[in-house]
Amino acid sequence: PDATDPLVARTADFIRSKFLHEGSGHDWEHIRRVWQVARALAQHTPQADPLVTELGALLHDVADWKFHDGDEEAGPRAARQWLESQQAPENVILAVEKIIREISFKGLGVATPMSTVEGELVQDADRLDAIGAIGVARAFAYGGHKGRPLHDPAVLPLQHDTFESYKQNTAPTINHFYEKLLHLRERLNTPAARQVAQERHAFLEQFLAQFLREWEGQDVGQL
Ligand code: ADP
Ligand code: NI
Repeated sequence: PDATDPLVARTADFIRSKFLHEGSGHDWEHIRRVWQVARALAQHTPQADPLVTELGALLHDVADWKFHDGDEEAGPRAARQWLESQQAPENVILAVEKIIREISFKGLGVATPMSTVEGELVQDADRLDAIGAIGVARAFAYGGHKGRPLHDPAVLPLQHDTFESYKQNTAPTINHFYEKLLHLRERLNTPAARQVAQERHAFLEQFLAQFLREWEGQDVGQL
């Protein structure tokens, strides 16, 4: 999308150059899609401030705890540093920091409510990008980046009742579908996002069924 606000345009350039060559599924193209979807959701949500929504989308992964030793403040800190360097108003900085602090999935047993409407839109856009065909691709990109096996039927999915347990997880990538991806549809904030999620969720289920069939060679049969 094209930025209409100059601060949004500068932030998009900053994040684009920072994430262009990222290989874990948290690349610029992910950010670009989240930005685009969050903008579209904001157009149906008159109470949402478009500037906070767009900056939140662009900065939501600026310094993810997964790549900063589990430090959950790395993201808000990096966002503040950038926005202060651009003389952004303090109320905008605080709103963006809050979105980054609240957005992450933290385990099936941990609720992650967003306290602002802009946060709800950015979280929905981020979660939509974790399901569907793109979501499948990103999960395996992430697992490959971390050196994880695709699948191991002996390792059972876990519920993860605390963020610590979720953070320390090193399970095969297929487990991630049961521990997170299949549950995102039920955890969306807006009806518009839930609508988009229908087809993407169905694709996840179809992918898993086919994957497990091939894993066991059921489609090969007697040959
Ligand atoms: P969130 O924005 O909800 O915090 P993440 O940043 O955890 O989402 O996830 C970003 C992408 O990385 C998603 O597509 C997600 O599926 C993938 N991912 C995160 N953890 C894992 C994992 N343990 N195995 C496979 N993919 C993962
Ligand atoms: Ni993201």
